[in-house]
Amino acid sequence: MQGTDLRYMSGFGGHFESEAVEGALPKGRNSPQRPAFGLYAEQLSGSAFTAPRHENLRSWLYRLRPTADHRPFVRYEGAKLFAPGTVKQPLAPNRLRWNPPGDLPSGADFVDGMVTMLANRDPSDLEGVAVHLYRAQRNMESRVFINADGELLIIPQEGPIELQTELGRIEAGPGDIALIPRGVRFRVRLLDGEARGYVAENHGLPFRLPDLGPIGANGLANPRDFEVPVASYEDRDEPTEVIQKYLGSLWTTTLDHSPLDVVGWHGNYVPCRYDLNRFNTIGTVSYDHPDPSIFTVLTSPSNVPGRANADFVIFPPRWMVAEDTFRPPWFHRNVMSEAMGLIYGEYDAKAEGFAPGGLSLHNLMSGHGPDVESWKKASEAELKPAKIESTLAFMVETCWPYRPTQFALDRAQPDYDEAWAGFPKAKLR
Ligand SMILES: [Fe+2]
Repeated sequence: MQGTDLRYMSGFGGHFESEAVEGALPKGRNSPQRPAFGLYAEQLSGSAFTAPRHENLRSWLYRLRPTADHRPFVRYEGAKLFAPGTVKQPLAPNRLRWNPPGDLPSGADFVDGMVTMLANRDPSDLEGVAVHLYRAQRNMESRVFINADGELLIIPQEGPIELQTELGRIEAGPGDIALIPRGVRFRVRLLDGEARGYVAENHGLPFRLPDLGPIGANGLANPRDFEVPVASYEDRDEPTEVIQKYLGSLWTTTLDHSPLDVVGWHGNYVPCRYDLNRFNTIGTVSYDHPDPSIFTVLTSPSNVPGRANADFVIFPPRWMVAEDTFRPPWFHRNVMSEAMGLIYGEYDAKAEGFAPGGLSLHNLMSGHGPDVESWKKASEAELKPAKIESTLAFMVETCWPYRPTQFALDRAQPDYDEAWAGFPKAKLR
């Protein structure tokens, strides 16, 4: 890509502007009669035009050719495991857990290497979330991807990647997240061989920072730590395939040029990355285990106040200092449904069976919590201040129960329930 080096602007929810060629951005108006250099002005909206100002999301793009210039899309026949639909049969209220699947697609790029594990709601409802795994072994060459069904929260687990987006370049590796807004075209290149990770596809309201309430003005994920790319463009008149996810299916068309041709842009509808190590983790300094909402990085509200369409929550390294307290999460059942992944290290409420790259599902009202070994250890531990180190787990929690895909159901660990077998009975005397 041409224009500028890899650089970032910082801030979440801010209004940004960037031009890769001086003079590309019009001053004082969005759609001048004749934009500089003959560029085409295009507005990309992520909210209704009439959304309240603080909810309104849009960017103006100034590009070499208008996006409207494309031939009809036809069904894309690759990526068979990406958005294939979930199982239709009645779903048992069982807890499910997966080892990192050993048979994710091989030799694939980011799009063809996507495998859907869990999903809820139809994307056309503009609500719900899906959880995918990816394994990419080659670059996306001469093609780009665009998701009309929602934004993509990319969570690298192995191998750094470069996201070449319409608005500029982002590099992200394990420990980072990258957020690609609905409708922004991008390509994924591998920076150090094979890359694996998770993707949370949010069909609902765009992710935002959670309100902080009594925490105050600072804490959790701080807005300034989100990094937004500067403009960077391709001037390449070669066939470029555009693969689009649209209403739950994949479609393809081929342009005679690269659509990553935005020379300048301004607005607040932007891709970004965030280093999860910058999360300001807050926890109890007296007693009791706080609810995991204290670890919320980003939230997508539903239409019901206080009920999240999707919460992205992390369990980062942190000090544990609570007194007279069972320090891992207690047993719980929840109206929210929890999909959990592990980026690296070990999760403190499970002794084994939950490996980096794996996944677990504790759906609507499923009883879960520590396994026997973790319960015993935490019950008997001498409660000195202790630091949980070198671990990073995450959860994509949603008010809509997940359904697995057939691929996922076929690969679930057969004995996950055993994690909670053998608890001794409480003795009344
Ligand atoms: Fe849970």
